[in-house]
Amino acid sequence: MTVLVTGAGGQIGRAALRVLGDRGVGLGRADLDVTDAAAVMAAVAAHRPAVILHCAAWTDVDGAESDPAGAIRANVAANRHVARAAFEHGARLVTLSTDFVFDGAKGAPYVESDPTGPLSVYGETKLQGEEAALEEHPDGTWVVRTAWVYDETPGNFPGLIRRLAAERDVLRVVTDQIGSPTYAGHLAPVLVDLPERVPPGVRHVAGSGAATRREWAEAVLAAAGRGVHVEGATSDEFPTPARRPAYSALASEHPDTPVLPDWRSGVEACMAGFTP
Ligand SMILES: NC(=O)c1ccc[n+]([C@@H]2O[C@H](COP(=O)([O-])OP(=O)(O)OC[C@H]3O[C@@H](n4cnc5c(N)ncnc54)[C@H](OP(=O)(O)O)[C@@H]3O)[C@@H](O)[C@H]2O)c1
Repeated sequence: MTVLVTGAGGQIGRAALRVLGDRGVGLGRADLDVTDAAAVMAAVAAHRPAVILHCAAWTDVDGAESDPAGAIRANVAANRHVARAAFEHGARLVTLSTDFVFDGAKGAPYVESDPTGPLSVYGETKLQGEEAALEEHPDGTWVVRTAWVYDETPGNFPGLIRRLAAERDVLRVVTDQIGSPTYAGHLAPVLVDLPERVPPGVRHVAGSGAATRREWAEAVLAAAGRGVHVEGATSDEFPTPARRPAYSALASEHPDTPVLPDWRSGVEACMAGFTP
């Protein structure tokens, strides 16, 4: 059974391909631009995958605010192209979405049926991408909302914290954003198996539990053996172009949804393999 992975150069794509081994065919941006409908159809026709794991997306949350058209192409139109190609060629589709489809006002873990209310262009385009995929391929699409994803590479939040800790004695990290940090190495095995395990539709799969960004930073530094002090701060001190939900931890209301390990064990597993 072949699993075609788009966005193969990204965090989740790489982790999925490690899990899949010989079963996986990875297409990075240079191999397949997912905004090109004809190219997507041709790639799916050529590889005839049983499953498409669609990891390619516009993930620059702040950058989407100044280029909404680009984010729409990559997150909405591309989802439609991939879902249409999956439908045409009888493939099941697993596509990624985000906790940023919620407004953060609930103050308790969000489940699949909670009302959405994105605060940012990124969140809005991811939500529209969910709808596009489900519309094109309703019986064969699994939308996985996940959150705060990281891996061993330096270009993510744990990497930033480690880099800053090498330069400073004290870090200031916000306490008014709460979410579910998710280690790509824990998420990937669930993604590749999901169509075998649960019916199609929207599922929440993220590191179990909830953390403030400060708690996440402290866990990273503890796992890295760095004794740097982390002070609490508020988001007002670090203005960003995109608004982020204050509370966006995820949980599933479906008992058959696979549950990931606690977010702290994700940090420990990741930091054990961190590449400086
Ligand atoms: N990271 C998170 O915290 C997070 C949280 C919730 C949900 N998600 C979702 O999970 C999925 C994967 O995220 P990730 O963390 O693996 O992101 P990532 O590391 O940024 O990977 C995304 C990949 O998509 C590629 N890409 C962007 N536009 C493309 C296009 N038009 N055609 C082909 N490839 C394109 C990117 O290539 P370039 O590097 O060349 O741009 C990158 O390799 C996305 O759907 C994202 O929205 C992520």
